[in-house]
Amino acid sequence: MTSPDPELSPRRAARAEAERLATAALSLPVAPPAPAEPTTRRQLREAATGAIAVSPGVGRAPLPASGDSRPGVLERLRDAGAALASLPARRRRRLAIAAGSAIAILIGSALVIGTVAGSGADATASATVDDSALTAAVAAGPPAVPDAGLPVPEVSAVAATATPCDDPAFTAALAAGDDAAALAAAGGGSAFRAAVASGIAPCVSLSDPNREWVVVNKQRPLDPLDYRAGDLIMPQNVRALEDSALRAAAANALTAMVKAASDAGAGEIGYLSAFRSYSTQQSTYAGRVAVGGVAEADRESARAGYSEHQSGLAVDIVPCNGSCGTLDDVAASTQGAWVREHAWEFGFITRYAEGRDSVSGYEPEAWHQRYIGPELARAYHEGGYTTLEEFFGLPAAPTY
Ligand code: DAL
Ligand code: ZN
Repeated sequence: MTSPDPELSPRRAARAEAERLATAALSLPVAPPAPAEPTTRRQLREAATGAIAVSPGVGRAPLPASGDSRPGVLERLRDAGAALASLPARRRRRLAIAAGSAIAILIGSALVIGTVAGSGADATASATVDDSALTAAVAAGPPAVPDAGLPVPEVSAVAATATPCDDPAFTAALAAGDDAAALAAAGGGSAFRAAVASGIAPCVSLSDPNREWVVVNKQRPLDPLDYRAGDLIMPQNVRALEDSALRAAAANALTAMVKAASDAGAGEIGYLSAFRSYSTQQSTYAGRVAVGGVAEADRESARAGYSEHQSGLAVDIVPCNGSCGTLDDVAASTQGAWVREHAWEFGFITRYAEGRDSVSGYEPEAWHQRYIGPELARAYHEGGYTTLEEFFGLPAAPTY
């Protein structure tokens, strides 16, 4: 163990002690060989500041082997002091200020770096380093002055949450009304869903009736209430029991799905009702009320302005085996079983699933297929969702 230098003044000893504690707390790396004894003024200044300089390394470098004969901090400070004494007073004052500043930087850096870099147990261990470690650290001599200067603690900036609304490709696709391109720019259906559900994509409206992702329920009427889609067409090669169209993307997807079901041996899929205008929905709902009253009608039929059929994105399918069955026949049919498995591949979801009426607002409807596009339908399927409300993080809508 090194004894305190009897030639050090109490003030110098205190400084040296502070330096030792800070050096030990930082576990400074081994310094390079010490320079020759200072002779010029420049060397004197370097000796004074070098004795207290902080190495850029903050890691846990090995302590020097015992018997290392390089001059220690105390000796170098003492030598520097003697050399300083031989300088003119003005020069001494300047060097003293430089040395004092370096000591302050050292201690300040030790505190800051210890706070930033030290993790709980490590920091505690550094603060309670034992005498032998202190001695060894002092014997190691001064660390090298880094070319780049003293280390500056780095505080990492917290990355802002990425939102597709900051992506020009995404906003351009939205502005162009290109839902598929918007989903691609967002990174796919799952990424889009996550962004919307987490609330970081305010540029996406789930109320825009022109979007494939529009959500219509008892709490979310169409806007405007009498909205009418502009690109309605009849699906090709699909048996339509009513003269009822769909929006083009949904119509084409239905055509593809019906063919795939047939090719797979699941039987023919036909449909009854697809797009229903505001006035058609008024009649449909009124008919239900007439039969079962308002409460029952509200469990089975949407009021005008609140039906997905009015968006042109929903279709009620039926199984056809020669002649076509009813809506109620879908669930137990081979066509219904195939649709449950594969509809998502074509962009459709069964919007009113079994046991989800407390969220969707309606009793199960195996026949009611809602088009949300293949990307979102894949995310819906793979995510195991059973309501569009939960998919997009929206409140349940059991009632008006
Ligand atoms: N049957 C569904 C809920 C509708 O009327 O839109
Ligand atoms: Zn329907």
